[in-house]
Amino acid sequence: MTKNLESSDLHQHYATHLGNVTKDNQVIATGDIRNTAGVLVAAKNTRINQQIAEKIARHKLLIPLEQQIALEKTCKVEQELFALPSHPEVKVLIENGVGVEQFQNHGKALKYYPLLLQKLTVLKASYPEIYKKAVMGAYVALLISLERNLDVKTSSNIFIATLVRDIGLLHIEPKIVMGTGVLSAQDWLMLQGHVSIGYHYVRLENNIPNVIPRAIFEHHERCDGFGYPKQKFEHQLSLEGQVVAFADSFIGMFYKYIFALKYPFKALLPIMQFNAGAHGIENTDACIRLFGKLVKSYKRIHSNQELAVLSAKIPLRHKHINEWFVQAEILNAGLSSVYSGAAIVRSTERISWLRRLLTRSGIDDNRFVNWLKEVDFQSISDKEVEEIEQYALMLNEMSWHLNELRKVFSLIITHLQGPEEQVSEYKDIYRILKAMMGHFKADLL
Ligand SMILES: [Fe+2]
Repeated sequence: MTKNLESSDLHQHYATHLGNVTKDNQVIATGDIRNTAGVLVAAKNTRINQQIAEKIARHKLLIPLEQQIALEKTCKVEQELFALPSHPEVKVLIENGVGVEQFQNHGKALKYYPLLLQKLTVLKASYPEIYKKAVMGAYVALLISLERNLDVKTSSNIFIATLVRDIGLLHIEPKIVMGTGVLSAQDWLMLQGHVSIGYHYVRLENNIPNVIPRAIFEHHERCDGFGYPKQKFEHQLSLEGQVVAFADSFIGMFYKYIFALKYPFKALLPIMQFNAGAHGIENTDACIRLFGKLVKSYKRIHSNQELAVLSAKIPLRHKHINEWFVQAEILNAGLSSVYSGAAIVRSTERISWLRRLLTRSGIDDNRFVNWLKEVDFQSISDKEVEEIEQYALMLNEMSWHLNELRKVFSLIITHLQGPEEQVSEYKDIYRILKAMMGHFKADLL
């Protein structure tokens, strides 16, 4: 893997990002930068500006670019915790000093890893939102490590791996990284590549403990085998990788439900229980214990009127999810008879996991929807409000899981071969599923 990456042109996008950094920072060549033919591209001590960065981007380089440059200023991770978004519950955590000292100590230790600091500084300049998620993720991973009483060295490795887990994105076309909406199967594969790319570049750092690149390589794996790039299972994953993956997925939920949709912290509890086991039950348990200690009681976010509007949408979303899933089961059964690649194992396992989840959460029956018809929104109790908001959250989360399944189908459909009639029938069902998803891909909340 490393060899292939070294011989490719992955530095091109990184060189372009360096051009962004030069707007309020200095990037200096620490050696003669030469291309693979030995031709000088930028001499030692050259101050790299946008123009030179673009020139570098056009060449294949002899030595990785990041090993031949230095930044005048690098980001100060230890201070970043205080610059996080001012969500009241996050603020309370930080103001109360929960994990703050440890965060600062681990942040300061990054001075021993100049290449990682360089990458983080470039990430902050080019993708400030992704950088913020990196910082948030490192904080969550640290809190989990503390709650699990992991030793300081392990906690530090987890902290660093979480912080730099997405630096591979700096080597992928920005259009794909920033892409919104449905990604093509090809784009999706490219995006997934950030895991291997991150692994490769972090290993260029001198004296980096092996467990850090390994955890980066595993940060999108799941203990239940539904992650990527290797679809590993719990016993194949490092402890560090599992904590990083948990923190990554927690941040995804956090940004979606807490920052974007303004739910209280506690709303994440049913979602975590919904996904329990995906990233190591010890991590979910530690997080639930932390919630018990640090998080206040549930606070509704919808007024009675808003709740009536939300409740009116629930039956249709419930219907669409169940109808979609029945079609997905039909498609999967059909594909199983003509396709034998690894993706069909994943889709089949995901189908049976989702079927169990639908039953366990009560989404595949009508009890909740029938109860909802009887609710009087003028005299609704706090408990009923919480139940409705949490059911809507689960439907929303289920919609996300179904879209993940659709992505697996998309990969299979792209590589499908066989009798023309059958292939076109399955392509038609996939098209229908894609169109149906249009009804429930948007957030319900
Ligand atoms: Fe990632």
